[in-house]
Amino acid sequence: MSKKTYFLKQFWQEKKMVGSMIPSSRYLAKKMLQNVNFKKARVLVELGPGTGVFTRKILEQMHSEAKLFVFELNDQFYQNLQEEIQDDRLVLIHDSAEHIQKYLNDAGFIHADYVISSLPLTNFPKKLKESILKTAHHCLKNEGCYIQFAYSLISKKVLETQFDEMDISFTPLNFPPAFIYTCSKTKN
Ligand SMILES: C[S@@+](CC[C@H](N)C(=O)[O-])C[C@H]1O[C@@H](n2cnc3c(N)ncnc32)[C@H](O)[C@@H]1O
Repeated sequence: MSKKTYFLKQFWQEKKMVGSMIPSSRYLAKKMLQNVNFKKARVLVELGPGTGVFTRKILEQMHSEAKLFVFELNDQFYQNLQEEIQDDRLVLIHDSAEHIQKYLNDAGFIHADYVISSLPLTNFPKKLKESILKTAHHCLKNEGCYIQFAYSLISKKVLETQFDEMDISFTPLNFPPAFIYTCSKTKN
């Protein structure tokens, strides 16, 4: 089964959780990661990898001593990623994004340099959305960044409430076209 068909199958089973009918394009992946300083970053977090479009690109560019903590709640996506990606730098976690801090701490880390999220925030109940964003903000270093893509500007307000600075870019080269929010924990 192709990645697109398999992604669509997961979407039909869990529409709100998956939030999209096909995986993101490589153009969106490139745009999401263009401001990540891979030379410097040692702890990265990815939320909602799905079939791993961003995960693979992150691992390709990541420092050999860096760690990537990836949170995937969907059973099938999690199992497939576990089978498909073998990399000692990857910590694949079958749990909800709300629990970032616990997993970082258990592995001996306090802060992350980046949180890269594909979570369909607009589908989430307010409490869950706020809890995930609070945890993401808390786990970041002061100079850290939260990067999120979305198909609309609906989440702008809630992200502004949590982060000090935000830059929004756009790519039409995805289906659907997507906005990329790059949010800084503190003002530069
Ligand atoms: C829009 S898809 C993005 C998939 C992939 N990153 C891409 O861009 O093609 C959202 C992903 O978030 C996952 N997800 C949803 N809620 C989650 C949660 N609370 N914690 C971790 N992952 C979650 C879904 O299972 C799905 O893989």
